[in-house]
Amino acid sequence: MLARSAFPRVLTRSVSTWSSVPQGPPDAILGVTEAFKADKDPRKMNLGVGAYRDDAGKPFVLSSVRKAEKLLLEKGLDKEYAGITGVPEFTKAAGVLAYGADSAPIQSNSLSITQSISGTGALRIGGVFLARFYPHAKSIYLPNPTWGNHIPIMKDSGLQVERYRYFDPKTNGLDIAGMLDDIKAAPKNSIVLLHACAHNPTGVDPTKTQWDEIAQVVKERNHFAFFDMAYQGFASGDSTKDAYALRKFVADDHRVCLSQSFAKNMGLYGERVGSFSIVCESPEEKARVDSQIKILIRPLYSNPPINGARIVSTVLNTPELRSEWLDEVKLMADRIITMRTQLRNHLENDFKSSLPWNHITDQIGMFCYSGLTGEQVDKLKNDWHVYLTRDGRISMAGISSGNVKYLAEAIHNVTK
Ligand SMILES: Cc1ncc(COP(=O)(O)O)c(C=O)c1O
Repeated sequence: MLARSAFPRVLTRSVSTWSSVPQGPPDAILGVTEAFKADKDPRKMNLGVGAYRDDAGKPFVLSSVRKAEKLLLEKGLDKEYAGITGVPEFTKAAGVLAYGADSAPIQSNSLSITQSISGTGALRIGGVFLARFYPHAKSIYLPNPTWGNHIPIMKDSGLQVERYRYFDPKTNGLDIAGMLDDIKAAPKNSIVLLHACAHNPTGVDPTKTQWDEIAQVVKERNHFAFFDMAYQGFASGDSTKDAYALRKFVADDHRVCLSQSFAKNMGLYGERVGSFSIVCESPEEKARVDSQIKILIRPLYSNPPINGARIVSTVLNTPELRSEWLDEVKLMADRIITMRTQLRNHLENDFKSSLPWNHITDQIGMFCYSGLTGEQVDKLKNDWHVYLTRDGRISMAGISSGNVKYLAEAIHNVTK
């Protein structure tokens, strides 16, 4: 045996292989949660995280999901690999939920669809597919602002990121003129990413008439629309209503692609279940696109996890569970809408704030882009134990009937 001292000390002191790896910045939203956890004040509120909470502030597992899990357990299914594009009963049901059973892509069997690792994975598959095969452009236009992860997802996919105007800080609403101008000014055949409903982070969605205008401008410029639908049903409580924009584009004969997530509307966050789809010209074109999607996915993760997909397909394909789920989505959406009304009401009527707060109830979905400045957000944290991201985005799901008045008091105090 070799004595320890036989190893020259210099070897153990050599420069580490990773010594030049720079420290990256922490994730903005996870940072908020960490600070929240460290706070011991009982009044503390976490308005950073984008996950639904019930009125007691607890994570919510849908009853339709629990029942589907029970049915699946009783079946005693095996754990074999799914195919590369996932569980077929799931993708079929997901496509119908998004596009509608009577839509042309479903009726003509020309929708190329694959299961994905939730919405994030769907966006990444879409980004890479477009970088590889979209013949006209290598850049994608994202709204300003947008979900923070869109930017690195698209860049890492090999696309260049451009922006179009979206939010008007003067009104805390949509800058429709700026949006249309920027989409018109983009080179013909550009790729334009659109949040299908419940825009994150602003909660500001175009009206139906504005969507019709957007669809027309996208058509005139021959752009390609990439829809991100992470909140179907969660915005209005009605999954058909929330699919308006996507279905309008498809009805107007746009060949779109779509990222879908079941994280929020089925409360399946950690199950990571979603889908990516492309509307093709014909079943023959769909077959070619399918083949390339498989080639793209195989070296990434071979095939997706089966559990979440089985839960979603059981819920969507079992009539009683489907109707219970639709009620539960509405219940979640309605609770958020009620919190919006109460927050505005407390600010205006109890605390007599002289500022305009109509945007709280005008905006929709999980988030409210409050208009609070970074300094006001810091004061909320330091003086009131209320945690949110410095862009003033409030996750409405973090508010309950027990703390909405306290939040209004806090907001009033930092803004007066
Ligand atoms: C706009 C938008 N797209 C996509 C996602 C993806 O979420 P997930 O990967 O959890 O499905 C989110 C999640 O917050 C989102 O807000």
